[in-house]
Amino acid sequence: MPSPVTSTSDLDVHTSNTELYNEWAKTYDTDGNVLPAVDEVEFNKHVVPALQGQGSKGDTRLLEIGCGTGRNTAKLPKLLTPGSTIYAIDVSEAMMGEAKRKLRDASNVRWALLDFQTQGDELVSFVGEPVDIVISTLVLEHHLKSGGWAWISTMHPFIGKVTGASFRREDGVKVRGVSTNYEIEEVVASAKRHGLELGCPVVESGVGDDEARAVATFGPRAKKCIGWNIFVGALFIKL
Ligand SMILES: C[S@@+](CC[C@H](N)C(=O)[O-])C[C@H]1O[C@@H](n2cnc3c(N)ncnc32)[C@H](O)[C@@H]1O
Repeated sequence: MPSPVTSTSDLDVHTSNTELYNEWAKTYDTDGNVLPAVDEVEFNKHVVPALQGQGSKGDTRLLEIGCGTGRNTAKLPKLLTPGSTIYAIDVSEAMMGEAKRKLRDASNVRWALLDFQTQGDELVSFVGEPVDIVISTLVLEHHLKSGGWAWISTMHPFIGKVTGASFRREDGVKVRGVSTNYEIEEVVASAKRHGLELGCPVVESGVGDDEARAVATFGPRAKKCIGWNIFVGALFIKL
């Protein structure tokens, strides 16, 4: 069975993540990328019920790291109580522009264009007090108060060994940013060292083994992923 991904040798252009996503923004939601499609299924299965349960705890402060085009951000206002605040950050102005368009009617979203890796101080002053929930889908990281939880999803390390976030431009050129691959055990151990315990078993997922079903659910690009885990998601609870 061929690997579900192309190796780095077939890539044409390497760039910074900011440039990658600024360029990708206009087609990110529509280019048939399978990983966000799998994330969509797992987010709806694991995170939406948790957010629905959150309502009983009152107003919530939620930080989304790497909100991108607002694919998941757009689901949040209707899942949280009206007095809740959503802090959405991203390093790409174009990705965030798409998100702002989707959420133009939501008054409880605060936006900040910043890099969480290099602008930790700005992130802390933007958010203020520790938050109840962190969500970071297909980005990675956390910044939480005791009893809060974080849902983190990313590319499965199995395919992360040979590829990273990339897209094919309209002119056929494949554009790739900068990615670091972490083994699942490594992330869980590191989270534990920072007082974060798994709230449920790590979710390793993909498009399944049935080609017709995979294509119907995740689109035609799912064909190359049949039988492979391409997605990993984990819910961490801050002790
Ligand atoms: C693969 S996209 C995922 C977007 C969205 N979370 C989703 O699941 O559809 C990754 C996003 O993370 C953002 N990102 C990557 N590195 C970042 C950093 N260091 N600080 C802030 N945002 C970052 C990118 O600009 C991009 O919008």
